[in-house]
Amino acid sequence: MKFDFNTYTKDYIDADVIKTYAAKTTSVKKKFEINCDELKWYHMNEYVDNMELKEMIELGKQLKETTDVLLVIGIGGSYAGAHAIYDALKPYFHRTHPEILFLGTNLSSRYLQDLFVYLKDKRVSMNVISKSGNTMETMITYQILMTMMQKRYSKKELKKRIFITTNIHQGKLLESAKKYGYRTFFVPDHISGRYSVLTPVALFPMAVAGFDILSFLTGAKEGRMHLNYASIYAMVRTIFFKRERMVEAFTIYEPKLAMFTEWLKQLFAESEGKDCKGILPIGVMNPRDLHSLGQFISEGNPILFETVLKIEDGPDLFLPKYQEHLREINHLVLDKVCEAHKLSGCPSNVITIESLDEYHLGEACMFFMMAAALSAYLIDVDPFTQPGVETYKELLAKELRVL
Ligand code: PA5
Repeated sequence: MKFDFNTYTKDYIDADVIKTYAAKTTSVKKKFEINCDELKWYHMNEYVDNMELKEMIELGKQLKETTDVLLVIGIGGSYAGAHAIYDALKPYFHRTHPEILFLGTNLSSRYLQDLFVYLKDKRVSMNVISKSGNTMETMITYQILMTMMQKRYSKKELKKRIFITTNIHQGKLLESAKKYGYRTFFVPDHISGRYSVLTPVALFPMAVAGFDILSFLTGAKEGRMHLNYASIYAMVRTIFFKRERMVEAFTIYEPKLAMFTEWLKQLFAESEGKDCKGILPIGVMNPRDLHSLGQFISEGNPILFETVLKIEDGPDLFLPKYQEHLREINHLVLDKVCEAHKLSGCPSNVITIESLDEYHLGEACMFFMMAAALSAYLIDVDPFTQPGVETYKELLAKELRVL
């Protein structure tokens, strides 16, 4: 990865401001030196078990033979990472085999009605993911799809088709897995959903899609070398926040990253957004949004800064008229938009990912998880809690008479 926190930001951040934040940034970075529970996702050696990885790869191969569609049911951190990587790696117009569908993020009966029609002649397997094992949206979707599965397959066959990813101690999902004897993967203790992309939460669906999970984990391990850049990025964000730049636009020029920006939104919003603090993350896809949000970014309320994700490589597509490859024209648009936004008062960070493959996506995931945790530490909030999302759950549980 490459990082540019200077070219399009230097008018906003001078040496004196950096001095103000440098000491705190150095001290929060030191937290990563200690192998504590809450940073387990960073100290990867402890929980990534080689045997389990091999088994996931093996199961992935087996499901290729028996399954057309893997239904992955989960919400929040229990789906966003896997979906982000899946969309970034799969071809635009061809399905993977098996195809992966992510469910449980809506409660639309229309959606499920259409899904049943789509699945009619397909061989289906299911991976239900919930760390707590109790999340309402996940459990309702599980129940509905389980009824469909029970009508289609024998109890013996279901054991080959249903996979549960949850915590090792408790919850309705664990109870169900034990009762029916389903293969279970465990989310390590102390790793919250949005930091779980390096665990079976994302690794198992990736393995089933045929992606190289070992390379993804290698990339993540190597990504730890960017801790210093992650801390500079966290510091730059914090400086913008203190200067009333309350919104961070994660801007992409490669549509395959659309779900990746959803993962970033979840990662940063749930890590930082508490105690009336935090930057609001949004996603911007250019050139499309240059003709909509671009106007606001240039001349609207100056509450924004951008973090642009650039994918360096890409297929050759030469345009004789411009004597240039389309990839380079896309990069040129990116550069010129950053320049224009700088002129109009909106600063941009540019983060370059060399290629859209497992290794570089693993590296990017580690970088952004480090940056989200560091950013939260810098504004004195706990990155690993999300008390704000509990209230609606409690209100709803009372109505639905479940807890
Ligand atoms: O990041 C988080 O911790 C949350 O977004 C959770 O992943 C989300 O609420 C789903 O929780 P669970 O995995 O318990 O179903």
